[in-house]
Amino acid sequence: MVFIITLIFGPLLSFSQSLDQNLSFYIQQMNLRPLSSPPPKREALYQLGLRLFYDRQLSGNENISCHSCHSLTGFSGDTLPLAVGEGAEGLASLRTQSAGMLIPRHTPPLYNLGLEGIKNFFWDGRVSFHLQGGWQTPEDGLNGPNPELKSMAQTLDSLLAAQALFPMASPEEMLGKGSKLTRLEAWENIMTRLLNGRLGASYRRFFKEAFPNTENFNIAHAANAIAELERHHFLGNNTLWDIYLQGKKTILSDRMKRGAVIFLSKGSCTNCHSGDHFSSFGFQNIGIPQIGPGLKNQDDLGRMEVTQAETHKYRFRVSPLRNIGLTAPYMHSGVFKNMWEVIDHYNHPMRSLHHFKWDENHVSYNEPLILDQRPETMSERTKNLASNLPRNLNLQVEEKIDLYCFLMVALTDLRNQKDLFTKGVLDEITDCSPRI
Ligand code: HEC
Ligand code: HEC
Repeated sequence: MVFIITLIFGPLLSFSQSLDQNLSFYIQQMNLRPLSSPPPKREALYQLGLRLFYDRQLSGNENISCHSCHSLTGFSGDTLPLAVGEGAEGLASLRTQSAGMLIPRHTPPLYNLGLEGIKNFFWDGRVSFHLQGGWQTPEDGLNGPNPELKSMAQTLDSLLAAQALFPMASPEEMLGKGSKLTRLEAWENIMTRLLNGRLGASYRRFFKEAFPNTENFNIAHAANAIAELERHHFLGNNTLWDIYLQGKKTILSDRMKRGAVIFLSKGSCTNCHSGDHFSSFGFQNIGIPQIGPGLKNQDDLGRMEVTQAETHKYRFRVSPLRNIGLTAPYMHSGVFKNMWEVIDHYNHPMRSLHHFKWDENHVSYNEPLILDQRPETMSERTKNLASNLPRNLNLQVEEKIDLYCFLMVALTDLRNQKDLFTKGVLDEITDCSPRI
């Protein structure tokens, strides 16, 4: 009897175990570790951040907050291909352009951005650490080891806080279309509204509690509070993958393990999605179709917009991938509706770029989102394609499903597993139910 059971289940067990052995080889080779946790929550700072993140007073016309685009129902995004700015209405699937302007890029998710290992922000990385120390941002006065706006720059407690300054000073996003204010003026106006406006008394108390040793508050104090909120509010560091890395080998199904092996080997995903966050935080051109207004001339040059270097044309930041199952659509232009489309793209990037089909009319927008198919830009995009991007992965149907299950389920936080079903992105047919 025992013999028969071993005969039947033995190969199964050893199959799963050999998957684990295979995986642990790659995990060791790439030195992959579970994500860290954020430092302990500073409660008063967090409470201030919570108010600011939802407060429309941060915008010039008091009609949009951070949460309008990075909403909870949208899992820290807006569920749209391209964002829509001040004057737009609604949240997540109910968000419509209304009187808002099209923003050239997709709203990225905010998960884990306050954890160790994050090196830059925005699709083109324009907020990062300065090579000589200090910050590197679109505002020269804040940059480098001896910044002109010294008290502001010195108050900022993290790169995440530095990032938070910029949506508020962007005319299309929050400041107000056509506004001629400088960034500094915009930031000063916001602080005046907060501290002396209709909620002034309560804000003065919250700021005082968050910064007991400070008399004069500037926008960097507000930014630190927003960063503290983001750090603790948008966490996806307890995914099945993280738990697997901690040693609980049964948390992943065999399908997810096979998907992980594809991600780490045949798929070459870790050529770019390397390290604990699954991002090198470098910039690559992976041939993503371009839609909408773009930054200029209906195009988006990506990293080249920041560095002006021709070799950076069409390169975008390699995205971190935790909780990616919750945050469709994907890429800087939001062109891929779901993970199947992402996988099909990587399977054969050239074919995907050149045969991309796009419905210009989307219920959320007043204007069509035109797909760029100009021969000159298409050939540039193809010519500059990353050399470490495989041209033909030749993934079989079963391999695509394995990879899908790894990305969608194994990389989703335990706290959000049920959301994959309520969102309707997973069903029984796909058969990647986790084993919890
Ligand atoms: C109009 C919609 C909108 C609003 C309002 C908005 N954002 Fe964003 N956010 C975006 C878009 C679009 C991007 C990407 C822009 C780019 O890369 O050029 C972005 C990028 C970010 C990023 C970078 C994420 C990463 O991984 O690189 C962070 C962090 C962020 N926003 C936080 C905030 C905060 C904090 C606020 C409020 C002060 C805010 N956003 C307001 C749409 C919005
Ligand atoms: C050559 C570098 C490179 C390789 C190889 C690569 N990626 Fe990417 N990945 C990127 C870049 C760059 C982006 C952002 C591109 C953009 O938005 O234009 C991205 C974006 C993504 C996104 C969307 C993230 C979001 O929030 O929208 C997913 C999902 C993804 N990659 C998964 C994979 C998988 C799975 C593989 C392996 C099959 C892979 N990547 C291989 C560089 C790479």
